[in-house]
Amino acid sequence: MSDAPLSPAEARHELFELAASVRALVDWYDMTGVTGVPRGVVVEHEHAPAPLRAPVPAQAYAPTAPVSRDAPQPPQRSAANSFEHQAPHAQPVRPPPTSFEQQRYPVQAAPAQPVVRAPVVRADAATPTERMGRLSVLAAEVQGCRRCRLAEARTQTVFSRGDPFAELCFVGEGPGAEEDRLGEPFVGAAGQLLDKMIAAMGYRRDEVYVCNIVKCRPPDNRKPAPDEMEACKAHLVQQLDLCRPKYIVALGATAIQGLLGTTEGIMRLRGKWKLYRGIPVMPTFHPAYLLRQPTAKREVWMDLQEVMARLGKKPPGKTTG
Ligand code: URA
Repeated sequence: MSDAPLSPAEARHELFELAASVRALVDWYDMTGVTGVPRGVVVEHEHAPAPLRAPVPAQAYAPTAPVSRDAPQPPQRSAANSFEHQAPHAQPVRPPPTSFEQQRYPVQAAPAQPVVRAPVVRADAATPTERMGRLSVLAAEVQGCRRCRLAEARTQTVFSRGDPFAELCFVGEGPGAEEDRLGEPFVGAAGQLLDKMIAAMGYRRDEVYVCNIVKCRPPDNRKPAPDEMEACKAHLVQQLDLCRPKYIVALGATAIQGLLGTTEGIMRLRGKWKLYRGIPVMPTFHPAYLLRQPTAKREVWMDLQEVMARLGKKPPGKTTG
């Protein structure tokens, strides 16, 4: 590009081009339901006007390098008690059946077809308000998603529950019958056990974030098929990029396999730190498995204590030691 000053005609032309680009972007926001653009937003979308596009760093989906064992060791875990002994009085409190994002930033349900893709605010550049707005748009997109056969039988999509900006996120497999009915993850029998695990770790139910690998119920509570997990993967990646939890607990084989893209079983992976896009993940057993195998609660409690040690959390009632 030349440094020579622009002629008045060239300057006018450039100004017109810039104005047209801004107009196109504002129109596009209008069309996709974005109602405000905070200062300094960096946008990226294939249809965004070229002068306003920002480069997006290439990111691998699921780096699987184990977390260094040289890191400071957490305090000794107690295997003596299960999480149920740790929080004997914890009562699960059921919030209204809409997600945190939907309550705060209500958006219209997206039409099933065609799905209009929203601009991607780069998660690393976004403020909490922008991230919350993007989560709302994403939840609405998920509501209209028909990328796989699970869309045919669902009552509704199940996006998340809890605080999107929580330090700790639990990822499960996919909604069951109760979740499909109520539109919220982990509200059935397995969810009640998960609530006990959360309380035993010293969190209130709404202080953590909970979501699933797939957002629609697989019929007959079967495991989601690989192509269904693949179809939903982009939703989960965006969701977790926007939430940015410090730690993730992967509940069961499907959760850890979906996060890491591995086929290794939960029996081998359980209790060993992994990394998902830079976030340490602790794989553990699914609460539904614990309902069938209550003796496995002991191992899960050890895994949860690993996470608590990293987060500096003590079981409720324990202030020392
Ligand atoms: N099991 C899951 O994996 N997720 C839910 O939301 C409910 C049960």
